[in-house]
Amino acid sequence: MKTSTQTTVGTREVGQLVRGQPTSDGDGVRLTRVIGGRSLSDLDPFLMLDEFGSDSASDYIGGFPSHPHRGFETVTYMLEGRMRHRDNQGNEGLLVPGSVQWMTAGRGIIHSEMPEQEEGRMRGFQLWVNLPAKDKMTAPRYQDIAPERIPLVRGADGSEVRVIAGTHTNGAGTVTQGPVEGIATDPLYFDVALPKGAHFEHSLPAGHSAFIYVFEGQASIGARAGRAVRGDLAVLTDGEQVSVVADAAPARFILVAGRPLREPVVKYGPFVMNTRAQIVQAVDDYSAGRFV
Ligand code: FE2
Repeated sequence: MKTSTQTTVGTREVGQLVRGQPTSDGDGVRLTRVIGGRSLSDLDPFLMLDEFGSDSASDYIGGFPSHPHRGFETVTYMLEGRMRHRDNQGNEGLLVPGSVQWMTAGRGIIHSEMPEQEEGRMRGFQLWVNLPAKDKMTAPRYQDIAPERIPLVRGADGSEVRVIAGTHTNGAGTVTQGPVEGIATDPLYFDVALPKGAHFEHSLPAGHSAFIYVFEGQASIGARAGRAVRGDLAVLTDGEQVSVVADAAPARFILVAGRPLREPVVKYGPFVMNTRAQIVQAVDDYSAGRFV
């Protein structure tokens, strides 16, 4: 029986449409900040979403030289191009097209993310996911996921879903598990490609924050057919189901959802903590070389 305390159920609609702003970060890397900028400062637990994409080496060649992180997770999804990752604990890895790095910075890492190419296209996303207060000082952890470990689910209508995190269940009940595991906010991260006329439908936990970012073509979202075109981020209303149709053109988008933390957020550059005192501590620890 329904009670008055139940949250919204049903299909998620477009609650807000956001366009990112062009900016630069690292050593002059040009990118579009979609979450974490002026139009959408955050979407708990998501602190930042950057899209990068350029054919011109001058837009990315500077890369992201050595810099710290504490208190959250960085998720890099490469669509095209190659990026070399190194940190202060001797970890090293190469991000290749289709790969994902889910890095839990925890109490602190210092790393660099540098292009491993001098020409050609570089394209992808970096998402920042907050950590709950109890995990902010956890040991750093990497999940480096090669492209072949990301399952691709094909639908009869030509739709393709790359399951990076979370569980995909198709209409016939076949379950496909994404390779990313053990993340506090219980995230779902799908890359969905729809040919014109194809349809994507999936359940999402009610109460989880969710967004769709369209990076190719355009799509119609929800029962009210909210339109999102390339470069639009649609913040979804609450509900249990998401429904997207590529009614006018092919579409490719990421669908990301996660459990909101509802904890205080104090950000200072690459440090995201719960209090100002913890930020002061992070700056002190970094300056004193205690990020080891
Ligand atoms: Fe970083």
